[in-house]
Parts: sequence; structure tokens; C-alpha cells
Amino acid sequence: MEISEVLIRKPTMEDVHQIVHINRVCLPENYSLQYFISIIQKYKEFSVVAEVDHKVVGYVLTRIERMTKGLVPFSAKRGHVISVAVLPDYRGRGIGAQMMRKVIDKLKEENMEEVILEVRVSNTIARSLYFKLGFHDEDILRRYYLDGEDAALMKLSLT
Ligand SMILES: CC(C)(COP(=O)(O)OP(=O)(O)OC[C@H]1O[C@@H](n2cnc3c(N)ncnc32)[C@H](O)[C@@H]1OP(=O)(O)O)[C@@H](O)C(=O)NCCC(=O)NCCS
Repeated sequence: MEISEVLIRKPTMEDVHQIVHINRVCLPENYSLQYFISIIQKYKEFSVVAEVDHKVVGYVLTRIERMTKGLVPFSAKRGHVISVAVLPDYRGRGIGAQMMRKVIDKLKEENMEEVILEVRVSNTIARSLYFKLGFHDEDILRRYYLDGEDAALMKLSLT
């Protein structure tokens, strides 16, 4: 399918139902509507949607968290990418990479120390996107997902 221009922008409350739809279509990890609403309310500056012909076709949602040394929180903050997806018909056109770069640029601009995310170890496509953006494997989280699959905890340092 030929697609026209892709607009990468901050999410608004009007996008929330399209974001929920994309999440259901693309991922087994489905969050409640209320969770998406709260992430958009709190962290829209660090999240993006991709729009094609006035339709939302992808999103990256990120929350900000305080970093810890052992169990002790300290002042540095990081971005934690919670969910990334692009509708199947719109994949392979650079939309996922464009959205992630925009989020990473914003996190850098706001002096965040790092970005982290969890991804299924079997998800080679997403992992290759994250490696391409400079992420590395920081840890393996055993049986992280409900079906028992391990997650790779991937990290990109921004300092
Ligand atoms: C992961 C996902 C968001 C990528 O979105 P996308 O818009 O297709 O990604 P891009 O077109 O920007 O591709 C970026 C990189 O991803 C990798 N990639 C994308 N499609 C790929 C494919 N079919 N096979 C292998 N690698 C692929 C490549 O490294 C690619 O870089 P390249 O184009 O320089 O080779 C999308 O596949 C998706 O929504 N998947 C289902 C949901 C999911 O797994 N989310 C991640 C959960 S952590």
C-alpha cells in the first residue's frame, strides 16, 4: 500500500481509543483504557503517535521514573518505554524508528539519564529496531510475561 505523509506528534485524549485498538491488534500485553488515559495525561510530552491521513497507525508510550541505587531512589530520572506498536499494514516503512527517535530526542532534551524497555526475547523484529537505535541488553527477566516467556531488559544510555 502506498501511504502519504506520516505525521509524528504528541498524543491527545482524542487518540486514546485508536491507541487501545492498535494495542489490542498488535500485542498480547493489553492495558486498561484507564491506564492509557493516565499515561497520556501524565507523560504526553514523552510519548508519540504516528498519523497517516488523519488516522493513528502507531504509538510509543513512555513514562518517567526516578532511578534507584539498590533500593534507594535518587534524583536522576529515566524514560521507561511501556508500549510500542505500528498497525500491520504500515510496518516496514520506518514509522517505528521515527517514533522511537522522537521520544529519545525528547528524553535527551529533558536531561534523562537513560531509556529502558522490556521486550520478548523471541521478538527479533522489535529487538533489531532497538539495537539499531543503540540499545543493548542489560538483563534477562526470567518468566516476565504471563505465558512464561523471558523479557530482555534493554537500555540506552543518554549521558
Ligand atoms: C516493532 C514494530 C513497532 C516496528 O515498527 P516498523 O514501523 O515496522 O519499524 P521500522 O519500519 O521503523 O523498522 C525499523 C527496524 O526494525 C527492524 N525491522 C522492521 N521490520 C522488520 C522485519 N520484517 N524483519 C526484520 N527486522 C525488521 C529493522 O531493524 C528495521 O530497520 P531497517 O529498516 O533499517 O532494517 C512493529 O513491527 C510492531 O508493531 N510489531 C508488533 C508490536 C511489537 O512487537 N512491539 C514491540 C514490543 S516491545
